[in-house]
Amino acid sequence: MEQTRGAATFQVAAAVYDRHVGRYGPQLARALIAAAGVAPPQRALDVGCGPGALTGELAAVLGAASVVAVDPSDSFVKACRERHPGVDVRGGAAEDLPVADDAVDVVLSQMVVNFCTDAEGALAEMRRVAREGGTVAGCVWDYAEGMELLRAFWDAAREIDPEAGAAQDEAVVMPYCRDGELAALWSRAGLQDVAGGQLVVEAAYDDFDDLWDPLTTGVGPSGAFASGLDAGARDALRAALHRRLGDPDGPFALPARAWFAKGTVY
Ligand SMILES: C[S@@+](CC[C@H](N)C(=O)[O-])C[C@H]1O[C@@H](n2cnc3c(N)ncnc32)[C@H](O)[C@@H]1O
Repeated sequence: MEQTRGAATFQVAAAVYDRHVGRYGPQLARALIAAAGVAPPQRALDVGCGPGALTGELAAVLGAASVVAVDPSDSFVKACRERHPGVDVRGGAAEDLPVADDAVDVVLSQMVVNFCTDAEGALAEMRRVAREGGTVAGCVWDYAEGMELLRAFWDAAREIDPEAGAAQDEAVVMPYCRDGELAALWSRAGLQDVAGGQLVVEAAYDDFDDLWDPLTTGVGPSGAFASGLDAGARDALRAALHRRLGDPDGPFALPARAWFAKGTVY
């Protein structure tokens, strides 16, 4: 399968992803499901399902047989299948969904359209597979401010390497991560009755190492930055991040904000 830009940093073990941003996934999924008004007897598609945080929450609401999930990462497709028996999990990209026209009532994507090589094409595909009157909804982290883990990470990265940190800061490189941008994408895609807003969730950490360790494996753009440093620079990044998070000593929690958009297919 052709690699997308975003998929490249997500060819990792699901357990590693779970300990990084995946930690926020189930709570964010419940918030997105509520915002999109998902309810039985709808049939839903999860685009860019990853290991299946949103897939699992959709299956809990609609039943596994009413959920289809798609992701380009082979390891995530495998993990999602194992975690959610009965869900139809397929390999594929948002820009070319392996799903028939008008197949579902609701299409959701959680932290995905910002990784797509062609987000407008992805939205056109989401419209195609949703029936008339159906809903397309999605969310993207507020990398610039409200996603505290990644904001602190990129501020620390900019501190230890101003040029490379600024060049890879997700607040700079990620599209659709500022207030209103996702809703504007939804409107440009021709969705009707477009509405947007924020979803705020929280994740708990046992200690700072619980947050730091997954980053050293290369998961996601932040992990790719951290794992690409030499040992000395990585130690400096670790120290800067620890300080920016308030020098936690023991358990702590971080809030995270995502922007969401939803619209109706006509
Ligand atoms: C931050 S993860 C989110 C995973 C999952 N939605 C969740 O909430 O945990 C981004 C996901 O987007 C997937 N992805 C990247 N590019 C994609 C594309 N073009 N189409 C569909 N999914 C893509 C990755 O493989 C990865 O699973």
